[in-house]
Amino acid sequence: MNLEVHLDADELARTLRADVTTGLTASPKWLPPKWFYDERGSELFEQITELPEYYPTRCERQILAAHADGIARHTHARTLIELGSGYSTKTRLLLEALTGLETFVPMDVSPSALTDAAVRITAEYPGLTVHNIVGDITRHLKFLPSGGDRLIAFLGGTIGNFDPAERAAFFADVRAVLGEGEHLLLGTDLVKSPSVLVPAYDDAAGVTAEFNRNVLHVLNRSLGADFDPAAFEHVALWDAEHEWIEMRLRATRAMRVTVADIGLTADFADGEEMRTEISAKFRREGVRAELAEAGFELDHWWTDPAGMFAVSLSRAI
Ligand code: SAH
Ligand code: AVI
Repeated sequence: MNLEVHLDADELARTLRADVTTGLTASPKWLPPKWFYDERGSELFEQITELPEYYPTRCERQILAAHADGIARHTHARTLIELGSGYSTKTRLLLEALTGLETFVPMDVSPSALTDAAVRITAEYPGLTVHNIVGDITRHLKFLPSGGDRLIAFLGGTIGNFDPAERAAFFADVRAVLGEGEHLLLGTDLVKSPSVLVPAYDDAAGVTAEFNRNVLHVLNRSLGADFDPAAFEHVALWDAEHEWIEMRLRATRAMRVTVADIGLTADFADGEEMRTEISAKFRREGVRAELAEAGFELDHWWTDPAGMFAVSLSRAI
């Protein structure tokens, strides 16, 4: 197992400072979702994937189980690169099916999830070279290994956590990394009734609320901020115009927050909401068009039997 770090503690702190300065001085305030994922945040996300209301992980697993052999046949991948890999739980289905696989390259901002996954995968697949990259998929794709027959997997619907401009830039970056004929496997959650969507982001057990508030713990610990996480309520709402779920944190009283390490104070009004994540939901035609714009041909589109989630396989052209 080999570990490459492109996001060391210094750079992480610098980017976090820049993001927090931009987000907390904006109106309305916002924070980028990648800061949810410290060790606790990654664990909370794993708990979310097992909640009865959170269907995406189960549906995507079902699709991968049904089509992993087809993915292997269509790609003949020798290198599997997984972006935003987390604990790489569902990825096992691909590792089993891709019989010609030589190298697995997971890339994530969360070193704890990445290391935990790599230790397990190295033990389970002794013949496989595991090359871990701690990096930001919006900035560090240039460090991915070159060579032919690569399959880039971006699962879980994490693409939906980017806004449309970020998505376009990301697809263009992924295309620039790949050679003609190499593949992108993409998980996308699909548009459906808010009566299903909203509970998936506002579960009865309150795990998603805890995940949402975790970003405040990250700011307290990493930047010396003095957020009182208990003073913020979890909000999840469906934005029908943009077809995305929006998660927010709502201040339950007026308060002043100080972020010591960047000398910033932010005043929250009673009831003020700060956006912490969007989770866009997709339709086939939209995914096809966005990929085509970046230079991909969508060859396969698979959904679970209930049509909740889709996994698509596209080829760089
Ligand atoms: N792919 C897994 C995990 C999804 S959770 C699954 O399908 O279950 C989203 C993952 O993306 C987290 O592990 C988080 O740390 C990672 N992530 C979020 N933004 C990122 C970024 N900008 N760069 C790298 N990893 C990122
Ligand atoms: C990682 N990502 C795809 C999750 C999602 O569904 O947008 C993050 C999440 N946020 C709340 N619950 C899960």
